[in-house]
Formats: sequence, structure tokens, C-alpha cells
Amino acid sequence: MVDHTNTDILRSVQIEKVIVETPSIRTIIFEDKHSVASMPGQFLMVWIPQVEELPMSVGIKSLGSHKFGAVTVRKYGPGSTALYYKQGGERIGIRGPYGNYFSIPKNLRNALIIGGGTGLVPLVRLFGDLLHNHVNTTLIMGSRTRNEVLFEHKAQKILTDNNRNGNIAFSTDDGTYGFKGSTVDLAESILLSKRFEMLYTCGPELMMKGVQKLGERFSIPVEASLERYMKCAIGICGSCCINDRLVCQDGTIFDSNRLRQLTEFGVSYRDKSGRLSYYIPQS
Ligand SMILES: Cc1cc2nc3c(=O)[nH]c(=O)nc-3n(C[C@H](O)[C@H](O)[C@H](O)COP(=O)(O)OP(=O)(O)OC[C@H]3O[C@@H](n4cnc5c(N)ncnc54)[C@H](O)[C@@H]3O)c2cc1C
Ligand code: FES
Repeated sequence: MVDHTNTDILRSVQIEKVIVETPSIRTIIFEDKHSVASMPGQFLMVWIPQVEELPMSVGIKSLGSHKFGAVTVRKYGPGSTALYYKQGGERIGIRGPYGNYFSIPKNLRNALIIGGGTGLVPLVRLFGDLLHNHVNTTLIMGSRTRNEVLFEHKAQKILTDNNRNGNIAFSTDDGTYGFKGSTVDLAESILLSKRFEMLYTCGPELMMKGVQKLGERFSIPVEASLERYMKCAIGICGSCCINDRLVCQDGTIFDSNRLRQLTEFGVSYRDKSGRLSYYIPQS
């Protein structure tokens, strides 16, 4: 039977379960067939009643033999903190999934994924899809410190389930787990010893800008998932613009060719009111 659901209309869903991932990150699980049908890189608009509506990467979680939709939220400002403290049985609103998704080119033989913080939500899904497609994949998982490492067990299980046809490398800012330093520095050292055909990235914008530069230097195509302030997610309000593109409609995934045209990428962003702010350049 054809499904005529308009996924732009808010769906009220009951929270099935909440999983504590790290001291500041939780995964909220709910029944939603549209989330289950989503692709890595797509996002939902999540309405936290009486608080706010926020864009969140959409995940899939298996509980027993049943698949559920999921969002993984870092406790930060008022909206994300309210979502973080939601309990099983409470209701939230969702619409979407929205946006394009990471591509897996035909005949891709190997890939390097570089992710930080909740940017790992779509990337760990992508890791599974790449390995499933027999793409030898190295996943770099970056976090501030050891107890903030996100999805380590999930990623290890994906690796084991796929005959270990890949690698996982960790980096922490304080050196308490894996490489001490940034994911970009770790990626650079890996790229100096092995040739990759594709780089995928999601996380803080200056990290992704660093990955874009690595892509240019080593002549490797890049796909990056961009974040901008989002209100409507359906191309009306313009709050998510970067240069003349709308991240909610034209992205969130941009490839090397399109990134090159985005002169605001890694340079500036707009706040809730549309006012332009600038990133502090990193040396
Ligand atoms: C496509 C996309 C996917 C995202 N996926 C995740 C995810 O999986 N997990 C996660 O924890 N966070 C995710 N975020 C970030 C999330 O939407 C919020 O920005 C973040 O949770 C902070 O919101 P807040 O209201 O708690 O903080 P506030 O203190 O209100 O805002 C802090 C900063 O968050 C950003 N922000 C706030 N509201 C929005 C909004 N509506 N749209 C975009 N940015 C906003 C602004 O830069 C703001 O300066 C995603 C953002 C985008 C655009
Ligand atoms: S969020 Fe409104 S146009 Fe993209």
C-alpha cells in the first residue's frame, strides 16, 4: 500500500527508552517507521513541548528484533538539556527525515571517516553501511576526554559483525584515550602512510574545514555534513543559509566541489536573528 504520510507534519511519538551514552549524552528511542527508513546524514526536527524545536541527526536503534527511531543528544543549552532529561513514556514531536545523505560511490574500495562528538551519530551508521558494502573503512572517533567517547561499543560491534574489514582510531583533546590531539592531526598522520579514496566528516565546523584542507592536499574527495541554525527545515525561512545555499534543502551533505564554492564554510555563521558571526581562525 502506498504511504501518503506527509512527513513535514509533526508526529507525536512516545519515548520507548532512554540510553545514557556518556555523562553528557543520551539516546532517546521512539517508534517511527520514517526514521527507521532514513539514511545516514539525514536529520529530524525534534519538538520539545513548551521549549523549542531542534534539528537532530536521525539514528536507528534495534531493541530485540524491532527497529526504532533514535536521536542522540548532548546536554548543552535550554533545548538540548530539556530533551536530554526526557524519560521513557513522555512524548516529543518529530518531523522529517530531512536533507540528503552520504553517498557511497560504486567501486569505492576504502574510506576514512573523521568525526567528533555528536557528529559521530550519522558517521557510525555510515561506518556500518560502508563495511556492509565491502569498503575497507577507518573510523576516527574524536572526543574531549575518555569518558566522553561516544558509541565505542557500537562501532566495535559493527566492526566484528563485518569481519573486521576496517579499523577504529580514537583521539582525545587531553590524551586520556588514543591519540592526544585533534581528529584532523590524527587523520593527517594516517593519510601520510595510507592512500584513501574518500573522506567523510561530521562534527565541529573548524574540524570539518581541516578535513576539507586535507582532501585538497591529498587530492581525495570529501563529503561533509554542515550545521546551520534551522527553523523551518523546509526551505522557507532562510535561516540556514551558507552563501547562496540552504543547508536544510541543498545539504546537509556537501561534497568537495560544492564546499569549494562555500566561502563562508569554516569562516562565518549566522545566529537565531540572522546576525553574522565569525569563527576564530585556528593556526
Ligand atoms: C542538521 C543538524 C543535526 C544536528 N544533530 C545533532 C545531534 O545529533 N545531537 C545533538 O546533540 N545536536 C545536534 N545538532 C545541534 C542541535 O540542533 C542544537 O544546536 C544543540 O543541541 C544546541 O541547542 P540548544 O537549544 O540546547 O542550545 P542553545 O544554547 O539555545 O544554542 C547553542 C547553539 O546551538 C545552535 N542552535 C540552537 N538552536 C539551533 C537550531 N534550531 N538549529 C541549528 N543550530 C541551533 C546555535 O549555534 C546556538 O548558538 C544538530 C544540528 C543540525 C543543524
Ligand atoms: S531552516 Fe528554514 S530554509 Fe532552511
